[in-house]
Amino acid sequence: MSTKFAAFVGVAPGLEVPLLEELRELGAKPKQTGGGATCWLDAEGLWRVAHYARVAELLRVRLGQFEARNWSGLEKGLSKLPWRAYLKHGSAPRIRVSCKKSKLYHTSAIAERAAKIIGGAVSGPTGRDEAGNGPPCPDVHLRLGHDLCTVRVDAGGDMHKRGWRENQVAAPLRETLAAAVVRLSGWTPDAPLVDPFCGSGTIPLEALARALKPPSLAAPPLTTWASHSLRAYRDWSVDAGPLGKQATGTIWAGDNSPRAVQLATDNAELAGYGLVTTVLSDAAQMIKRAPEGAYVVSNPPYGKRIGAGELAKTTSALGAALRGRPDICATFITGWHGFQNASGIRWKTLAKTSNRGLPVVVLQRPAS
Ligand SMILES: C[S@@+](CC[C@H](N)C(=O)[O-])C[C@H]1O[C@@H](n2cnc3c(N)ncnc32)[C@H](O)[C@@H]1O
Repeated sequence: MSTKFAAFVGVAPGLEVPLLEELRELGAKPKQTGGGATCWLDAEGLWRVAHYARVAELLRVRLGQFEARNWSGLEKGLSKLPWRAYLKHGSAPRIRVSCKKSKLYHTSAIAERAAKIIGGAVSGPTGRDEAGNGPPCPDVHLRLGHDLCTVRVDAGGDMHKRGWRENQVAAPLRETLAAAVVRLSGWTPDAPLVDPFCGSGTIPLEALARALKPPSLAAPPLTTWASHSLRAYRDWSVDAGPLGKQATGTIWAGDNSPRAVQLATDNAELAGYGLVTTVLSDAAQMIKRAPEGAYVVSNPPYGKRIGAGELAKTTSALGAALRGRPDICATFITGWHGFQNASGIRWKTLAKTSNRGLPVVVLQRPAS
């Protein structure tokens, strides 16, 4: 029987529903928990989530949980964990600590103690190079809450990094958030999708990824675990191609900035898994010309880069264009609370979350 791992999949607050949907599609049986979901996964399940999840921010595996009211409780608990299954000899992992309502609260002192215990557990025939660096290894996360210490190792790495967004506009949307907005919009790949404020192209590219389901190419941290079977992983990855079908509806990316259009074009090429049609256009004009039954999914300007007057004018023109197109289902992610009034449209709130620390809402006007 293959080993099952207690996985924790993290997501930005407010996006638990799209995360659960995504995990179920990847064959997991997730349970919602604070900050994400937990599920039991075998090695193949972990590879699948690490390579194909788009909404998930992080993937970690729990090594254990114990009471740590004092230093000796912490050290005793840590020394019982199966470090050698995850860390090769000579490993010196980065240790991340967070504490909440616990007697032990000094994060750097906790990390120091943990480093000693872990170092002792994986010492021996050393895998260190001449410069004294240990072998590649996953980060270790200790979370203390109400004196209960949960220890996890990283499996998925920085899951929001797709490898294509080398160039971006000043306020790009986090890729994982864009993936969640596309899911929340209800768009299906057979329909046309239009992003009239595309910036670097994050939403159109996540839509394309939703259709084609390409695997991420970077090897996730779990491939460095001591017990990880590289051979089985290589066999699996040979067949790990796109899980989806080519989108049949066109994906349009527009912006009124020539630089943004160029960036979106370049990024689509860098991503290399399909076609996005880029257009230099004013957003309202683009909505007027959108194909029948299109989904407009977008992240309009809301920051300080655009003056208040221009913001109101752009949003009001956007609202007027949408009112003239009741066949369009429009979904926007915005951090501007004046958006609803300025657009003159009644929106349904689909989710509340944050983008780079700024509170944002996902709003929808369904097609009628
Ligand atoms: C918040 S950014 C979009 C960021 C994008 N989601 C990304 O991840 O890179 C808003 C974009 O709207 C564009 N924009 C502003 N006013 C516009 C208008 N009237 N018509 C079309 N694009 C506009 C800006 O050039 C900017 O690229």
